[in-house]
Amino acid sequence: MAVVENWLPPSRENWEWLCYVWQFFPLITAAQWLIDWYPQGKTSTESRWNVPGKLGWAVMESAGPVTLLYIFFTLPKELGIAELPWGNWTMAGCYIIHYIYRAVLSPLVLNPSMSPMSPLVCLAMLAFQVTNAISIGGYLSGYGPTSDTDYRWQGRAGWMFLGLVLWCWGLLGNMFHDDDLREIRRAADRRQRREAAEQNKPVQGIDKVYMIPKNGLFKYVLYAHYFCEWIEWSGWFMIGGLDCHPARTFLVNEISTMLPRALQGKRWYVEKFGKDKRYGTPKSAMAQGASTVSNNTLAAAVGPDEATVTEFKYTKHDTMVESCVFVFQVITVRSSTANNAADAWL
Ligand SMILES: NC(=O)c1ccc[n+]([C@@H]2O[C@H](COP(=O)([O-])OP(=O)(O)OC[C@H]3O[C@@H](n4cnc5c(N)ncnc54)[C@H](OP(=O)(O)O)[C@@H]3O)[C@@H](O)[C@H]2O)c1
Repeated sequence: MAVVENWLPPSRENWEWLCYVWQFFPLITAAQWLIDWYPQGKTSTESRWNVPGKLGWAVMESAGPVTLLYIFFTLPKELGIAELPWGNWTMAGCYIIHYIYRAVLSPLVLNPSMSPMSPLVCLAMLAFQVTNAISIGGYLSGYGPTSDTDYRWQGRAGWMFLGLVLWCWGLLGNMFHDDDLREIRRAADRRQRREAAEQNKPVQGIDKVYMIPKNGLFKYVLYAHYFCEWIEWSGWFMIGGLDCHPARTFLVNEISTMLPRALQGKRWYVEKFGKDKRYGTPKSAMAQGASTVSNNTLAAAVGPDEATVTEFKYTKHDTMVESCVFVFQVITVRSSTANNAADAWL
């Protein structure tokens, strides 16, 4: 049953048209390079029409996986395809795993707080998600490869494996750096609660508490969580291969909207914390300075004691990265063995 005739799921003609038009999305985001107005997150503005941050993220980001799942389970039946190739399932699975994290766990379970956002941003992100999911969903559900023997899957086991590893690393990196930002607010929350208990002070809340992140790749890149997400979707594109144009368009469109947003964020940090701080500069000669800056900033916001506690926790985060490296080395060795075995078997 079609929810919207010829669109959900899409007819081939509509899907091809949408995929063509969707490539030009970076032209729309050109406006983001020119104007600083973006009423969401750090740059959110007060308005009675604002949507609560957590709810807004959960709703708009869920639109992608829900749309994709719907197309994935209805279009093949319409087209008379009995079974989709395992490569299609792999790509759909990766996409769904990402969005379980992004649309459910991150806003509704993990994030201590998220700034309210303008309904316009919410609608724009929703439109992005639905359009992108139709583009990807159409490809994976019948308009792309429809059998394991399709030339787009044949002889690509190595690339698919590499893409999968890159995708996993990107996702883990994105989660790790997201969590480093959460830790800043968790630390502020602990501090406030302790003071409330000790000094009978009211708990002010941790909305809009910001500090300069400093762990993991934040030492080198101010928007390390964005960077990791780009790695993740590059890996996903690698799984699909050069013929998988919806994966390429998704990657290009993400970068085209997130890069100007990151640069805008850098301007925001400079305005808030001053020009003399180091934002995501390489460790090398500046390591000591950057670390002191971060500690001072942290201490100023949450107090020296908490800064020390957080510093310890951050060290644990670095240990977490090492654990991830270890787990992935194990997976990589196991998978490559499995991969070789699969290749030998094929
Ligand atoms: N924005 C996009 O266009 C986009 C597109 C695709 C994927 N994503 C992914 O979605 C995730 C969230 O994106 P986003 O644009 O919302 O990222 P963000 O602006 O960095 O915010 C992420 C979360 O951390 C908090 N936060 C940010 N900087 C902080 C700091 N310096 N100190 C303390 N807390 C801080 C934010 O709180 P507030 O909300 O209160 O600022 C928010 O809860 C990222 O992993 C990103 O890769 C984003």
